Amino acid sequence: MGERDVRHGRDRMSVTERAGQAGGCWSGALASLALVELSASGTVVAVNERYCELVGRSAGELVGRSPVEYTHPDDAVATRALIDAPRRSARGVRQLEARYVLPDRTVRWVRVSVSWCPEQQRTLGHVTDISDLVSARRRQEALVQHSADVIFVVGRDGRITDMNPAAVRLFGNAAGRPIADALREGVVAEHLAAALRALDSVESGPGVHPPVTLAVRTDAGAVVFLSAIADNQLDDPAIAGIIVNAHDVTLAVEQHAETERHQQALVAALVRTTEFRDPYTAGHQLKVADLAERIGQALGLPERTIAEVSLGASLHDIGKIATPAEILTRPGALSAPEMDIVRSHCRVGFSILEASGLPDGVTDTVLHHHERLDGSGYPDGLVGDEIGLHSRIVAVADVIEAMTSHRPYRPALGLGVAREEVLANRRRLYDPDVVDAAVTVTARPAGRRGAPARRRPAGVNSAREAAV
Ligand SMILES: [Fe+2]
Repeated sequence: MGERDVRHGRDRMSVTERAGQAGGCWSGALASLALVELSASGTVVAVNERYCELVGRSAGELVGRSPVEYTHPDDAVATRALIDAPRRSARGVRQLEARYVLPDRTVRWVRVSVSWCPEQQRTLGHVTDISDLVSARRRQEALVQHSADVIFVVGRDGRITDMNPAAVRLFGNAAGRPIADALREGVVAEHLAAALRALDSVESGPGVHPPVTLAVRTDAGAVVFLSAIADNQLDDPAIAGIIVNAHDVTLAVEQHAETERHQQALVAALVRTTEFRDPYTAGHQLKVADLAERIGQALGLPERTIAEVSLGASLHDIGKIATPAEILTRPGALSAPEMDIVRSHCRVGFSILEASGLPDGVTDTVLHHHERLDGSGYPDGLVGDEIGLHSRIVAVADVIEAMTSHRPYRPALGLGVAREEVLANRRRLYDPDVVDAAVTVTARPAGRRGAPARRRPAGVNSAREAAV
């Protein structure tokens, strides 16, 4: 029957009437439905073949019996109520999901729809096999119920609506509580701002949001690290919630922290090794690291980048381990071959660390901290942005620290002279933003940090500062 037929009054007819007229055309479709007719007292009066297949019994075995007899005991009360209900409320279809127990004791999930026919004093039932649907639903529920991940749902009102067992084990039953309150109580103080920001972000837009890692206090008082992903499905009427899935990454966080501690210990050992060879620059690398870190902070760089800059600065002169001590420590000007030997410390340092697994920013800093924007630096004569940011920061910190420290060939020049040097060569040799940041972070009230500025001694030039 086409749509047009329905619109015309002469053809307006219910599908049931159509079925009656069409006769055989509908018999195939009706045969696929499991149908049952019950008496006013709820016993089977008639069934079709499909119904018999569904309950595993013949029509002769069914007529005169109540469906409650072959319904699973746990669903018997609900089935009885369903059969009785239509008679109490004359019209309307009622539904129930229940289990039929077959003669071989297997269980089949069905959806039963019933309606009451007052004219014939009969309950008419239509039964659908939903065993596959229930199995699929059960498997999906099992995924959530047996997941080691913490899974919970936040409703439209900002309250936790559902929690899986892993979530309850960790935090106790928080269903019904506002998520913001739960975060304020559970998330450790240092991570709370990030947690509340993430919540705002998730609530503001649909879909999956980037993961956040938070330290959270459990119901038992332990602190665990969770990497949480939130999927905002508030617009989906079937879900109307934010699904949060959090994975325990405590072990990974602790292992990462331990690896970083080992790395720092190895870096410290390498720094001490350098200092044994070159006592005049004792502590130089660590002072450069301190200044470079402050410059990175003033530039607003991400924490991880600052950590790499600091690490690179701590190791930037590691290659001097191969430079003869008498060249490094001898007062007076160096010959050209001696300068070449000194300058080789960049490549030597890079070759020492190249296979260490340290981040590229760290090894590049060791290789390129003597490069200058105008291409006058070494070892590669890089120009402008060819020099990595890490190296541009350490270059400025290195020059300032070198000029404010005592060297074998001259006394300390003071912070004022050092600042003059980088400002005078701002943009030509040194990154202007880095210079500005360095000038800012080294601006201290007189007497608080560094020696007073001295007049630059004759013969001292920035090339020698930059070289050693
Ligand atoms: Fe150096």
